[in-house]
Amino acid sequence: MNLGYLYMSDQQSAAAEMSDLREQLHHHNHLYYTLDAPEIPDAEYDRMLRCLQEMEAEYPELITADSPTQRVGSPPLDAFQQVTHELPMLSLDNAFSDAELDDFNKRVLERLKITTPIEFACEPKLDGIAISLIYSEGTLVLGATRGDGTTGEDITQNVRTVGSVPLKLSGEHIPQRLEVRGEIYMPKEGFNALNTRARANDEKLFANPRNAAAGSLRQLDSRVTAQRPLEMCAYSVGLAEGWELPARHSEILRKLAEWGFLINPEMAVVEGIAACQDYYQKLAEKRNQLPYEIDGIVFKVNEIKLQQKLGFISRAPRWAIARKFPAQEELTTLLDVEFQVGRTGAITPVARLEPVLVGGVTVSSATLHNEDEIKRLGVRVGDTVIIRRAGDVIPQVVSVVADRRPENTQAIRFPKHCPVCDSPTVQVPGEAVQRCSGGMVCEAQMKESIKHFASRKAMDIDGLGDKLVEQLVDTGLIKSIVDIYQLTLEQIADMERMGTKSAANLLEALEKSKQTTLARFIYSLGIRGVGEATARNLAKHFGNLEALMSAGEDALLAINDVGPVVTEFITDFFSNPQSREQIQALRDLGLHWSEAEVSAADLPLSGLTYVLTGTLESFSRDKAKEYLQELGANVSGSVSKNTHCVVAGSGAGSKLKKAEQLDVKIINEAALLELFSENGVKA
Ligand code: IVH
Repeated sequence: MNLGYLYMSDQQSAAAEMSDLREQLHHHNHLYYTLDAPEIPDAEYDRMLRCLQEMEAEYPELITADSPTQRVGSPPLDAFQQVTHELPMLSLDNAFSDAELDDFNKRVLERLKITTPIEFACEPKLDGIAISLIYSEGTLVLGATRGDGTTGEDITQNVRTVGSVPLKLSGEHIPQRLEVRGEIYMPKEGFNALNTRARANDEKLFANPRNAAAGSLRQLDSRVTAQRPLEMCAYSVGLAEGWELPARHSEILRKLAEWGFLINPEMAVVEGIAACQDYYQKLAEKRNQLPYEIDGIVFKVNEIKLQQKLGFISRAPRWAIARKFPAQEELTTLLDVEFQVGRTGAITPVARLEPVLVGGVTVSSATLHNEDEIKRLGVRVGDTVIIRRAGDVIPQVVSVVADRRPENTQAIRFPKHCPVCDSPTVQVPGEAVQRCSGGMVCEAQMKESIKHFASRKAMDIDGLGDKLVEQLVDTGLIKSIVDIYQLTLEQIADMERMGTKSAANLLEALEKSKQTTLARFIYSLGIRGVGEATARNLAKHFGNLEALMSAGEDALLAINDVGPVVTEFITDFFSNPQSREQIQALRDLGLHWSEAEVSAADLPLSGLTYVLTGTLESFSRDKAKEYLQELGANVSGSVSKNTHCVVAGSGAGSKLKKAEQLDVKIINEAALLELFSENGVKA
């Protein structure tokens, strides 16, 4: 028997099978990461990947550098190798005002001796790490950092773990050798999750997504990098052999997208500098809603011929500029620390700061989270601190500038008693937060729970704002959520900045709020751990309040996103006679909802996934989302094969385009309104 032949044939068929698996995995990877349109469930992808891993373990000689298994990382390196860039990686000149952007345009036109407006490519300036990727015959062979622009570091192993970096290019006419440049960054959501986990594990936090991306790419052990939520967006081409560059930068990017790269969906081509200014304004307004951080807009002369005519000056091209947004981090002094008591008694240290302008907004306070955070920062009153305000999140103290510490700083001492009601503070072992033990005896907790009850997503009592609640509690008129329904016109009209008219309006709003939904009512009770989504799940599952109030542990544990901790909060809440009395009192006062609450499966849009995009005229997207959820729909933020319907308002962009590509049903606002009215939603 010819054993050699048999072995070869086994190996050959394994090789063929592995190559087939690799192809399929590349394809699905591209659909998932780059097009955001997966065609198979994650579990199926994982099965295919595991199959390939097992075969590679058996035939290690058949492992290829572009194998999707390499994304999970490889054994640690001792050090990164140096890489010399064949073409230097340049940086960009900055413009900090509209006038500086105008000057850039004038310089460009003068140099080109052109008097009519020219085309510019506009791209968000991603705040991450610049990266160079070399593809040889379509296979990724090198990933390097920018370094000093001439020499960077070989971080190929780490780059391979990033899902949106194609390990192999797809499509036609792949150049023999191609260098793609772009940015590796960490989306906000992943960054927040990473830091939340680090905080819970008492580990070092990253100051911002950029540092987190840099730190993740600097790992010698690429298995660590593989665990980090990184993405890569391509923005230019360096070296290209066997490819005649298209005439425009925008066409280069389009080609890169065809080959499998993620290109920023906000990218646009405009004519003239006025249109660039408009683009900057539009993106500045949109900045907080973007899923990643950007620190400006890059404008590039779109025509490659013109780029070549303009050339470079020292280390930056003359044909591009970065119009920077106002900074999101600033230095200031920590003047004092106050301790705030929240709805559930959690005591939060709040830094009082010397007011400072951060990203165009004056910041005079920032959260310090808890005692562990204060220890971690090593911060003292009087210190110079770095403040960061990104988007709508509460400003944070990022770090202390140690070498600016004056002599007379004071330690921050956490109170042993509630600063509001003087009850002792308590701390659950293993938890970072300290709480006031006063419950509703504590005026702060009382105020916060009433504010929560009245808030938009709870009972939505128009006109009962935070300030008014504070006054009503301070003057002793209300002590609980029940009391607000017993206020008289005179009592309300007597409050500061109120009059008979606004008092009458409030009474009307109170009356109106009595007709509510079970989900809202559950949410408004402010049970710890029961947010909007959980409240909705509880309402759907139990159908009526009595069933929820008498539910045992097992029944609660069976519900989506209710674990043992929340189960205990819920049973504790409803076994408290005071809570039961309040609920009864509210119902006696006329609070009601449709008792025949339907179970999830009966709702008209159950099991359907909707995506809202663009601007709606009749209501906010938040409201539309709420109405859709009332009808049982899932409302998602991104379009995929699994989306059933996209509601496109005016100005809809990339999501609409994606829906068209994927042949997903698209409806306009009129159709949405019709859907609501057909199903009895009063929108
Ligand atoms: S073009 C010669 N485009 O900004 C052109 N850069 O200050 C050089 N960056 O190191 C880069 N987004 O890391 C370009 N859409 C974009 C960018 C971008 C972010 C970063 C890049 C570069 C730095 C220059």
